[in-house]
Amino acid sequence: MDSGLAAQLADFREARRELEASVLPQATSVDGRRFFFQASLYGLSLQAGGYVVLEDGGVTRLGQVITLDLGQLSTELMLPAPAGGAQGNRTQMLIRYARGEGVILDGDFAPFHDATVRPASGAEVQEWLERSARPGAKLPLGELASLTGVPFLADAGGFNRHTFLCGQSGSGKTYSLGLILEQLLTETDLRLVILDPNSDFVRLGTVRDGTDPALAGRYRQAARGVTVLSADAPGKRRLRIHAAEIDPATQAAVLRLDPIADREEYATLAGLLERHDRSALEALPDSEEPETRRLAMRIRNLGVGRFTVWAPGETGSVLDMVHDEGARCVVIDLGSLPSREEQSVIAAAVLGDLWRRRHERRPVLIVIDEAHNVCPADPPDQLTAQAAEHAIRIAAEGRKFGLYLLVSTQRPQKIAENVLSQADNLVLMRLNSLADTAFTQAVFSFVPPSLIDRAVTFHQGEALIAGKISPQPALLRFGARISEEGGADVPATWAHAR
Ligand SMILES: Nc1ncnc2c1ncn2[C@@H]1O[C@H](COP(=O)(O)OP(=O)(O)OP(=O)(O)O)[C@@H](O)[C@H]1O
Ligand SMILES: [Mg+2]
Repeated sequence: MDSGLAAQLADFREARRELEASVLPQATSVDGRRFFFQASLYGLSLQAGGYVVLEDGGVTRLGQVITLDLGQLSTELMLPAPAGGAQGNRTQMLIRYARGEGVILDGDFAPFHDATVRPASGAEVQEWLERSARPGAKLPLGELASLTGVPFLADAGGFNRHTFLCGQSGSGKTYSLGLILEQLLTETDLRLVILDPNSDFVRLGTVRDGTDPALAGRYRQAARGVTVLSADAPGKRRLRIHAAEIDPATQAAVLRLDPIADREEYATLAGLLERHDRSALEALPDSEEPETRRLAMRIRNLGVGRFTVWAPGETGSVLDMVHDEGARCVVIDLGSLPSREEQSVIAAAVLGDLWRRRHERRPVLIVIDEAHNVCPADPPDQLTAQAAEHAIRIAAEGRKFGLYLLVSTQRPQKIAENVLSQADNLVLMRLNSLADTAFTQAVFSFVPPSLIDRAVTFHQGEALIAGKISPQPALLRFGARISEEGGADVPATWAHAR
């Protein structure tokens, strides 16, 4: 390369470096609530969701960065003439810098111009969190993702709204859900009913080895109220139901009876149920009547009579436990049941019964992990549709009766839109597709879209939390579980180095 040109290029680069490095970290606000800022890309330590201090003369404000983008500015520059050259060169230069918007969290909320921006320290954010905390129980869920060591405390009272927990497989939903449940058990009196399709919470009452003894002691006390119902458990803890307790529509769904296409059998079942013989599914009375015989054949062919959840001759059922005042937390181990149908029968019966008894107005958090099985966007069969219908009704109208949902799934599109759209709290873990972030942004319009965008960069255990449980959206890293996890992932011993 021509040495004159090379020298000019070096000058150009040096000039650009100096200009880009000299962009001052400054913020301006015209309304005292939101601010716009700029900063140099060199040594950039700001991030969306992170906290900043804005210093303006003697006034200090605390803010949160909401968006952070790359800014570009094209300018014209006169480069000096190369040694021995006749004249300098006029050139276009692209200056790059960081810019974004944020919200003022604490301060005088008056407009300001050109305040200096710097990242807030952990102590500064913690002081603000403690000072601004609302009254009521707090749930220590972990620490702020951007400030290691600063505890994040969720507002327990916010669980009187529906909550949506979402993240791709392996992002840590079930682990984190367990942590939320542990804290609700320890710090509140809220009753919990957990539909557990993978037996993940069957050891919610068992403390892990190595847990801090004081914490373990407190937790053991709270976890005394945990009752786990499983298919193979003895006595009162056996997961069972009486067909007579299941509403007629769900019974018809179990038998895949269509009121039009199967009108004779449907009418026969309805007749039996009306005559208070509501255990038809378990044991149909002997009859010469052709329609009853046909119904009996259907029950036999579908294997419904052999469901392990039936409990002929036994007293008590999952529904008694769900409504038992003494049972603080009921884990319904759907994973212990041998078939999807039986899982759906229990899910539909429990949700239907909670709705039917809504006028008792007893607050309860209904937790549904893997909710796409219970209330999918597109139910694959009549029985699932029945369970989904109950979930949708609870999502729409349950809150005022004290029925609160906490549903967890991998992709927002997978669950019934009418459940999703009723959620006022969001706990968002890692997502792996932009389609999923776009969908989440459209549904959760109260959360800044730029923070939802960050979900594609989350590591396992990191989350965005927003809504009534976290009035200021926060990025958090979930802490350590106190109780044992249930259905652990299959260990990858097959990949050990030889
Ligand atoms: N914060 C965490 N700290 C330590 N281990 C974690 C954490 N979060 C998750 N894990 C571990 O990572 C694994 C996957 O987590 P988890 O089962 O919670 O994922 P998931 O999002 O529920 O996945 P899926 O959608 O497949 O059910 C588990 O073995 C769990 O123990
Ligand atoms: Mg899971």
